[in-house]
Amino acid sequence: MAKKIIKKSWAEPFKIKVVEPIKMTTREYREKAAKEAGYNTFLLRSEDVYIDLLTDSGTNAMSDRQWAGMMIGDEAYAGSKNFYYLWDNVKKYYGHPYFVPTHQGRAAEHMLSKIMITPGQYVPGNMYFTTTRLHQELAGATFIDVIIDEAHEPYNEHPFKGNIDLKKLEKLVKEVGAKNIAYISMAGPVNMAGGQPFSMKNLKEVYDFAKKHKIRLWFDATRATENAYFIKMREKGYQNKTVAEILKEMCSYFEGLWVSAKKDLMVNIGGFLATKNRKIYEAARNMVVVYEGLHTYGGLAGRDMEAMAIGIEEMVDFDNIRARIGQVEYFGIQLEKYKIPFVKPIGGHAIFLDAKKFLNHMKQDEFPAQTLAAEIYIDSGVRGMERGIVSSGRDPQTGKHRYPKLELVRLTFPRRVYTQAHIDVAVESVASVYEDRKKIKGLKMVYEPEYLRFFQGRFERL
Ligand code: F0G
Repeated sequence: MAKKIIKKSWAEPFKIKVVEPIKMTTREYREKAAKEAGYNTFLLRSEDVYIDLLTDSGTNAMSDRQWAGMMIGDEAYAGSKNFYYLWDNVKKYYGHPYFVPTHQGRAAEHMLSKIMITPGQYVPGNMYFTTTRLHQELAGATFIDVIIDEAHEPYNEHPFKGNIDLKKLEKLVKEVGAKNIAYISMAGPVNMAGGQPFSMKNLKEVYDFAKKHKIRLWFDATRATENAYFIKMREKGYQNKTVAEILKEMCSYFEGLWVSAKKDLMVNIGGFLATKNRKIYEAARNMVVVYEGLHTYGGLAGRDMEAMAIGIEEMVDFDNIRARIGQVEYFGIQLEKYKIPFVKPIGGHAIFLDAKKFLNHMKQDEFPAQTLAAEIYIDSGVRGMERGIVSSGRDPQTGKHRYPKLELVRLTFPRRVYTQAHIDVAVESVASVYEDRKKIKGLKMVYEPEYLRFFQGRFERL
């Protein structure tokens, strides 16, 4: 008899040892909390959140090995053994010999931007990231988006929407000259595009182009393990390679890279810069003592570096990364059943709801994504974040709002934190807000900070 059971389910490659109780609240309570927070989910108290899908940054559950590692933190001011363990793992898994720890990703972005950019230069990249672009701009550069057009189309199912469009890159080089390009800034997967990866083929083409024009190529490797996983699953010739092998090959094409360890490495704090270029390393090592701390701790405790080093070993485990991305995929598949509009293909770290389509009776000036994030919180206590016009900020030249094509709400999954039941609750909440969407009114901005306004901006209901 033919077998009837098809075994296609996977489960997390871990079990739960410690739990953290969460508070249940009423709709009235959340209505008040949202108002007090100026309808900005960043201003809510975490205590008032039921399922926290704000970000996957620093919100991960560490393993028992990582927690045990915290106990062997060598808290020496200089030369702690955890620093050397971490350095060894950065060399082993990312393949770059020089390394400077930082307290988180943006500290590395700050140093790199200052080192690499001469004011007036350009930095092309595969879509902007908020902190990355800001540091590039503060150092005097103009960021130019050279991602493929498909990345700006929410329903385009291109498997590698993080790819760079070489024609756009070439056009920029023709217009401004290779000398005026500080470096190419490539991220993968691309956060703001919906967690979309680039392909190895595209990376190799960008590498050849950069080499030919003597332009430097740098990598935001914050979620590089997820990009490596997508390459393994989607790109010809990589099925039989390990995630670790793919990660190392990806990194090999870059002069250097920076990482917010708060993502892939499954820790709560940390970051670093790594490079093959000794001169850049020396400049960063000089700068880190000014802004972060000695070059053997960079704003971190010894125990944090130990947890990061262990996290690197755990992040490349296939079952671990499959379960991580599998959870996001499960969430997307459930949302599809309710015909909820969100960015396709399903991304690596989050589902990005298409607020433009979800609230299509609203103008972009009425902040549809900001509104939707607030409404989902009020409905169920599930917290997401705005990734649209508020995140996009103002054009530094004209002072006007930038109007991004994508107006999204990101529901992001911390690693190893939530169960499938939490996801089911989140799905039903989004579906119920969708059902009542026509009743939802927009917001007006009543307070706007100068930098990264999405973090602290305040709103009122129209
Ligand atoms: N690069 C990418 C791709 C990121 O997603 C982030 C942070 C950074 C750099 C900056 O690193 O936060 O350690 O200073 N992303 C978080 C998020 C904040 O929610 O996506 P950081």
